[in-house]
Amino acid sequence: MILVTGGAGFIGANFVLDWLAASDETVLNLDALTYAGNLETLSSLEGRAAYRFVHGDICDRALIDQLLAEHRPRAIVHFAAESHVDRSIHGPGAFVRTNVEGTFSLLEAARAYWGGLPAGEREAFRFLHISTDEVYGSLGPADPPFAETKAYEPNSPYSASKAASDHLVRAWHHTYGLPVLTTNCSNNYGPFQFPEKLIPLMIVNALAGKPLPVYGDGLNVRDWLYVGDHCGAIREVLARGRVGETYNVGGWNEIANIDIVRTLCALLDELRPDAAGSYSRLITYVSDRPGHDRRYAIDARKIERELGWKPAETFATGIRKTVQWYLDHPGWVANVQSGAYRDWLTRNYAGRENSAGAGA
Ligand code: NAD
Ligand code: DAU
Repeated sequence: MILVTGGAGFIGANFVLDWLAASDETVLNLDALTYAGNLETLSSLEGRAAYRFVHGDICDRALIDQLLAEHRPRAIVHFAAESHVDRSIHGPGAFVRTNVEGTFSLLEAARAYWGGLPAGEREAFRFLHISTDEVYGSLGPADPPFAETKAYEPNSPYSASKAASDHLVRAWHHTYGLPVLTTNCSNNYGPFQFPEKLIPLMIVNALAGKPLPVYGDGLNVRDWLYVGDHCGAIREVLARGRVGETYNVGGWNEIANIDIVRTLCALLDELRPDAAGSYSRLITYVSDRPGHDRRYAIDARKIERELGWKPAETFATGIRKTVQWYLDHPGWVANVQSGAYRDWLTRNYAGRENSAGAGA
């Protein structure tokens, strides 16, 4: 079995769903259910013997020790994090706590557990750390894309906390021999993304007739990857990645924010036309994000060369699927927005003992 942290968030939940669609190997999902964690996303797994959920914090070392001893996973896939740059600007403390201290706590628990495993299991064990391209800093228009050898230059409290966690993971390998792997991925989009991030926020606002707030001049560039492709890359790295290595993961899709927003408006005009006119009428430029990184781009040749991974979706196919998914799931969006998914948690989990016995 594998232990996944943060499996109730956007990428973690997509990973758990994809994993269990392809395999019967058990997933133990440890998630603190912050505002970003949503068990409704995983409701299709109810009753599935190969899926177990534990409501808990990665900073809780005693809980992690207990889970590792009880379930004896062959791998830890570590997604849990505070992930939103804007929130990190307003309140960096939670980012240092979860991303730095939480990763430290998980590494220490993993080290103790791994050190006590019999030789064969010890050899096979992996700690896979999910990180971001934002650790590399910001690119100028003519700079080459981020390779794995690029020096770290994080600029936001979020990226600094992720960079710190990457450094801890690296050190636990070099100093203690812990068999780690790290992936640094670009911007993900797809189903089940919390509508505080650019793409779902714009879709949800447009459908509600609300302004589409574009920061600054709208010309900041991100590389975009469909979440299912990111999950596929993680499975490949876990299966065949070289211990101690980092792998950059990206979609070869550099797009300016304003072009993302215009594309979303055009798709919505086609799929859900509004009598009031094109959704692009709602585009509104607003003051910029402090310290806003100008451009990210990923050189994903290493993972393609070593592991044969490359994205299956183009931006055109992935974004169409994503818009259609949000159109088809107004209930999921409404619950997330209203906070009603917390009521759903109470309705569904109150008084029910979770299968891992750690309190759901
Ligand atoms: P998310 O914010 O949607 O989900 C994070 C999950 O972690 C939530 O379920 C939350 O409840 C859980 N969590 C938070 N603090 C916790 C704690 N202390 N203990 C246990 N669980 C906790 O994030 P996401 O967008 O799914 O990102 C997942 C990972 O991928 C993060 O590490 C992020 O840095 C990285 N990443 C994200 C992107 C992206 O575009 N979203 C791109 C590259 C890398
Ligand atoms: O690059 C990977 C990173 O991508 C991940 O590590 C982060 O977890 C993830 O949140 C994402 O960070 P960004 O800051 O790039 O994502 P966000 O969706 O917040 O913003 C994308 C771009 O859109 C960014 O340039 C800011 C801009 N933006 C965002 C919002 C929410 C706007 O113009 N308006 C908005 O309202």
